[in-house]
Amino acid sequence: MIYVKLIGHDFKYEIRELIKAFFFGEEIIFISSNKEYNGDGLLIENSLNIKGNKIDSITKIYKNHKLMFQYNEEDLQNIEIGQEDLKKKIRIGIKKSLYKGLINVSETRVPWGILTGVRPIKIVHNLLDEKIEEKNIVEILLNQYKISNDKANLILNICKKQRKYLYPLDENRFSLYISIPFCPSRCLYCSFPSLNINKYYEYVDEYTDKLVYEINSIKDIMKGKSISTVYIGGGTPTAIPRENLEKIILSIYDNFSKESIEEITVEAGRPDTINREVLNMLNRNKINRISINPQTMNDKTLKLIGRKHSSADIIESYYLAREIGFDSINMDLIIGLPGEGVEEIRNTLKKLENLNPENLTVHTLAVKRGSKFKKTMDKYSIKGQEIIEKMLKETEIFSKNMEIYPYYLYRQKQILGNLENIGYAKEGKECIYNIKMMEEKETVMAAGMGAVSKIFFPKADRIERVPNVKSLKEYLNRTDEMIDRKIQGLNS
Ligand SMILES: C[S@@+](CC[C@H](N)C(=O)[O-])C[C@H]1O[C@@H](n2cnc3c(N)ncnc32)[C@H](O)[C@@H]1O
Ligand code: SF4
Repeated sequence: MIYVKLIGHDFKYEIRELIKAFFFGEEIIFISSNKEYNGDGLLIENSLNIKGNKIDSITKIYKNHKLMFQYNEEDLQNIEIGQEDLKKKIRIGIKKSLYKGLINVSETRVPWGILTGVRPIKIVHNLLDEKIEEKNIVEILLNQYKISNDKANLILNICKKQRKYLYPLDENRFSLYISIPFCPSRCLYCSFPSLNINKYYEYVDEYTDKLVYEINSIKDIMKGKSISTVYIGGGTPTAIPRENLEKIILSIYDNFSKESIEEITVEAGRPDTINREVLNMLNRNKINRISINPQTMNDKTLKLIGRKHSSADIIESYYLAREIGFDSINMDLIIGLPGEGVEEIRNTLKKLENLNPENLTVHTLAVKRGSKFKKTMDKYSIKGQEIIEKMLKETEIFSKNMEIYPYYLYRQKQILGNLENIGYAKEGKECIYNIKMMEEKETVMAAGMGAVSKIFFPKADRIERVPNVKSLKEYLNRTDEMIDRKIQGLNS
């Protein structure tokens, strides 16, 4: 148990997230008086002191009522972050002061320093936008955000790779996300919108019609604007009948100019939803990027996580897709699955070597609230931070050897070892949708259950999130409302 007392500020969210990074899974209780601390566990006191123009933050850490550590971060007003935003400087200063305390009482390494957000690359884009030199950007990342040298250089390189896809900004373009929330079974770790196709089969036709209706209305809402990229995800879009998926794809072409679409991805995902007919249909309809996701190539783990397919099925689907003509295939992996360590990831990577995919997306396991895993995790063995880092390193070395390079990165809450998810791609085969969606420099209109539209206002550099409802029945009954929400979002 960790007690926290804030004095002179209320950055509760940031403080909680940073403590969580050092003390994974520990309960954190905010108190307003020391009397509420009974001496059990740690008490962290973090204060903000303003005297005239001078702003300081002090962190004190007590164990059993005894002061173990004290640190004063001085002159927050002068923190060098490439911007003159005082509130931001104060927030960073408070986190730096807390960070100094936490590294003295926890053995956990935090390669992302004081950063708790999911989009570290955005910071680098902002600094580049301010015309700050690269060497000064690295200094800010190291000294102010306390990011490790490796991660700082990684995000700078990714950021530079992304800029040609993001700039110049074009208000007349947008991306389209389509959610198809059906799967053949639910995987242990997953918290995405996903319904068992066998149980919900009777709703698939109605869902298809409502989705097409929503796509048609996006054309009216976005009158005069063209689509840059499309991502059909889920769930597993190929879990629904081929005719339904084709109807959805054709509705995109009916509404929007095919020529303007630079990239259209279908998350084929699981080999137990892939066959020659569905791949032919996708190819005929000019789908130019697909995912075939192993997660792991170890059959024992695949069984444990409920995938209902083998590693041999992955290889078979992959070669089938190649034979049919797909030249941009992504494969998703997850590091840290139950029972897996360095040997298992080496085995997975060895099996991917011959496949030579254009994209590899390496996720680190996140223990999500909505997953079966969260409820039953005591039953499984999960490796600690050191091993997870070693596994991630294996994927980094593998990617370099395969000549695929990091092009997008994001972090998630509850991610093992405080690490990250990295997308790798061969030169020129980067997934443009992933970059745009993550860096939030273009509007994403989203259709379907649980899909979230993000409307970008370039002048204010602001994003308005417009979520669709997360339940199937609500979505089917309230499709018009989902459309109205988007109109309101655009006018906000
Ligand atoms: C929305 S899922 C859809 C993919 C597709 N249905 C499949 O399973 O192959 C996208 C990816 O997120 C990753 N993912 C899902 N849940 C995760 C978790 N809890 N931790 C880490 N990665 C996760 C998996 O690698 C998955 O392929
Ligand atoms: S990981 Fe993919 S297949 Fe598994 S439940 Fe989630 S969305 Fe469905």
